[in-house]
Amino acid sequence: MPYTVKIMPSGHQMEVDDDETVLEAALRQGIALPYGCRNGGCGSCMGTLVEGEVDYGPMRPRALSEADEAEGKALFCQAYPISDLVIEVPEIGAAKDIVIKTLPARVVELKRLNHDVMEMRLKLPASERLQFLAGQYIDILLKDGRRRSFSLANPPHRDETLELHIRHVPGGFFTTQVFESMKPKALVRIEGPLGSFFLREDSDRPILMMAGGTGFAPFQAMFEHVFAENLDRPIHLFWGARRPEDLYHDAKVRRWCEEHANFSYTAVLSEAEEDVDWKGERGWVHESLLRAYPDLGAYDVYMAGPPAMIEAAKKAFAEHGLAPDRLFFDSFEYADDSQ
Ligand code: FES
Repeated sequence: MPYTVKIMPSGHQMEVDDDETVLEAALRQGIALPYGCRNGGCGSCMGTLVEGEVDYGPMRPRALSEADEAEGKALFCQAYPISDLVIEVPEIGAAKDIVIKTLPARVVELKRLNHDVMEMRLKLPASERLQFLAGQYIDILLKDGRRRSFSLANPPHRDETLELHIRHVPGGFFTTQVFESMKPKALVRIEGPLGSFFLREDSDRPILMMAGGTGFAPFQAMFEHVFAENLDRPIHLFWGARRPEDLYHDAKVRRWCEEHANFSYTAVLSEAEEDVDWKGERGWVHESLLRAYPDLGAYDVYMAGPPAMIEAAKKAFAEHGLAPDRLFFDSFEYADDSQ
């Protein structure tokens, strides 16, 4: 039978199933409790048990001393409720609340999503997990000190592996390795999470999202987070690409539309030949968005993609009434990889 856990001071309430820790249940329901290792060793998930009882199995977790427990502290990554609970733990509300780490990671999967986008999955050492907000990115640290930035395409509650969508930049130093010589089991170093591109949940405005190419990746993380949290704010995604094959998760996004009444989707192609069988929008993605929403005064707008798209849209959206503090963006500097 699930137990009810109330989290203070936010007042959020959640159900925890029999076989779940408090932290697992929180992440599954889109609630950002703090954590680090998720194996009882680091103490990042420690909070106060105000009411109720938890079980840790036969061994006390390493990061919870007897004195901690006597003071009413609990380690929520290891704690299984055995009654309803009231707990006190600060939820992560902003990127500044998260520790940025440098970690080794192993490539566990490389999967082509289309002709020039690769899905890379990275696994961290067993003793580590990366806490992040949906939409943030990591840097891959190259041996010569250079770094390459990629958005995390998985939501925080699906963090067994980190998912990146990597577009091949012709002549690019790192992305050519990814496409031509890198194999599963390769080791890389990462730093993250980075960036302030994440969903502002303290707003109830409808949301417009605009992705260019692999700028879809952070939105995938945000959508899965929103769906897990059952947020009912209307969200409309505009995904711009050159040709139909560049919309590498088009079928998945169309499925989301069928499954979630508050979610809608417009695909926009900038270079579809006239004879291509394409019934959707053509042209620049920000112009398509503005045709549908000529007055942006009531919206929150999120966008991720190539710098040219971001720059054109910033100017145009401001002219259509979007307040500067309601625009959030992540500019992908693909050109960096050619250096
Ligand atoms: Fe590290 Fe719980 S002890 S996350």
